[in-house]
Amino acid sequence: MPGRAIIGPVSSSWTSFGGDLHLDLTERRAAGAGLRAALEDALREAVQDGRLVPGTRLPSSRALGEDLGIARNTVVEAYGQLTAEGWLTSRQGSGTTVARRAAPGRSRRAARPAAGRRTVRHDLMAGRPDLSLFPRTAWLAAARRALATAPHEAFGYGSPFGRIELRRALTDYLARVRGVRTDPDHLLICTGVSQGLGLLCAALRERGDRALAVEEYGLPPQHAVARAAGLATVPVPLDEAGARVERLDGRCGAVLLTPAHQFPTGAPLAADRRAAAVRWARERDGYVVEDDYDGEFRYDRQPVGAMQALDPERVVYAGTAAKSLAPGLRLAWLALPDALVEPVARLKRLADTMSPVLDQLTLAELITSGTYDRHVRRCRLHYRRRRDQLVAALAEHAPRVRVTGIAAGLHAVLQLPPGSASEAELLARAEAAGLAVEGLSWHLADRSAADPDAAPALVIGYASPPEHAFPAALDALCELLRER
Ligand SMILES: Cc1ncc(COP(=O)(O)O)c(C=O)c1O
Repeated sequence: MPGRAIIGPVSSSWTSFGGDLHLDLTERRAAGAGLRAALEDALREAVQDGRLVPGTRLPSSRALGEDLGIARNTVVEAYGQLTAEGWLTSRQGSGTTVARRAAPGRSRRAARPAAGRRTVRHDLMAGRPDLSLFPRTAWLAAARRALATAPHEAFGYGSPFGRIELRRALTDYLARVRGVRTDPDHLLICTGVSQGLGLLCAALRERGDRALAVEEYGLPPQHAVARAAGLATVPVPLDEAGARVERLDGRCGAVLLTPAHQFPTGAPLAADRRAAAVRWARERDGYVVEDDYDGEFRYDRQPVGAMQALDPERVVYAGTAAKSLAPGLRLAWLALPDALVEPVARLKRLADTMSPVLDQLTLAELITSGTYDRHVRRCRLHYRRRRDQLVAALAEHAPRVRVTGIAAGLHAVLQLPPGSASEAELLARAEAAGLAVEGLSWHLADRSAADPDAAPALVIGYASPPEHAFPAALDALCELLRER
C-alpha cells in the first residue's frame, strides 16, 4: 500500500538525518487527504518536529517516490509546494534541502501562519473577532434566565436538530436580518460551520457525489473537511464580482460559496452570478452551500442578503456565532432543503447525538430579548472604526498598498505594489517583529496552481486584537509595509 515508509537508509550525502526518517501517509490518506497533500503535510510535520533539521538534504524525488511507492511527480510537486512555502530550498545541482529557517510563521499542519508558535506580540490573523467584546454580563444574565426557565426535559438527550427554542429564535432572526427563508424543522444546530460542512459533505457523498466546487481562495481547513468526507475539492476561479460560476465543474454536485463577502478576497457575489449558481444547482439536482460567516458585518452599503432566499430547496444556508460572539462557543446552524433534512440529522446524531443544550438556550434567550441585536450593532461600529483606522494608517505610511474587501467583515486584503518583497519574505519579517499575519496564498484551494509571479498580498484580521492592543498592532503592520 502506498504511503507508509521509512526513508532510509540515510545516504551519506544527507547531512544530519542521524538515522531513518519515518513518514507515515496512511493516516492522512485515511482522513481523506490526497497523496501529494499527505506527503506535504508529513514533511512539514517532520520539519516542525525537528526530525528534519535545517540543512538536511532530502532524498531525490525518484528515491523518495520509490520508497513511498508513489509517483515521482507527486514528490516533485510536494517539494515544489514546500519550497514555495519556505520550508525547503532547492538549488540546481545540490538537490532539495530543509530551509535554514524553515517557513517562518507557518503552523504545523496546513502551513498556516500561527499566532502562538513564536512570540506573537501583535495578532492580526484573519477570521477572529475581538474576544474582549464577548458580552460576558449579558451572556451570564441570559444563561441565568435560560436555566431558570428551561424545562427538565431540556437536560436529557434531545433532538439532533438542537433546541427548539434556538431554532425558533433563529428562524425569526435570520428572516429579519439576512432574509433567510426557513422554519424550525429545517434548521439544525451544529458545532461550528466546520461540523455543519462535514455533515453536509458526508450527506452529499452518501447520495453519490464525488466532488465539491470551492472558491479559488477560501479557508483550507474547510477544504480539508470536504476531503475528509470523501469529496474532491475543485476550485472555481474568482474575479472582482466573486466566483465565476459559469466555470463550475460538471463533476461537482455542489458548490461552497461565500456570497455576502468572499472569504478572503472580499467581493460580494454579483446578483446575476447568484442566480446562475442557483440555476446550475437546479439543473443537476445539486446544491449551493452558502457560508454566511460574517453577513452581519457590512459597513458601507445596504446589507447583502442571503442568497438562500432565491431557492431554499437548492441553497443550504450556514451561519455561525464565531464572529458575532466567539468561535469558542462552537455554535452554528444550517438551514436545510427538505431533501437534506433526514440525512444531515441522521449524520449529526451519529456524530455526537446533538450539540450541548445550555449554550443553545442561552443564545436563544439573547436573541429573543434583543440583546444579541444590540451586541452585533456595537461590534459593527467597533470593527468599522478599526477598518477606517487601518485604511487611514496605510494611506499615510504605505500609500501604494491597495486595500480591498473592506466593505464588510473583519478582515481586509492588502495587495502589495509590484517590486515589493515576496510574500514569504514579508511573513518572515512579520514573524521576526512578533506580528502574526497571513499571506493570501495560504488561502489558495490548490496551491500547486499558485502563480509564482503573482503580486504578494496579505490578509489582515483587524478585529483580532483587543482594543488596547490594536494601535500597536497597526504600528507594527505599518512598519512592516512602510515604503522606504
Ligand atoms: C470563511 C469562514 N467560514 C466559517 C467560519 C466559521 O467556522 P466555525 O463556525 O466552524 O468556527 C469562519 C471562521 O473563521 C470562516 O472564516
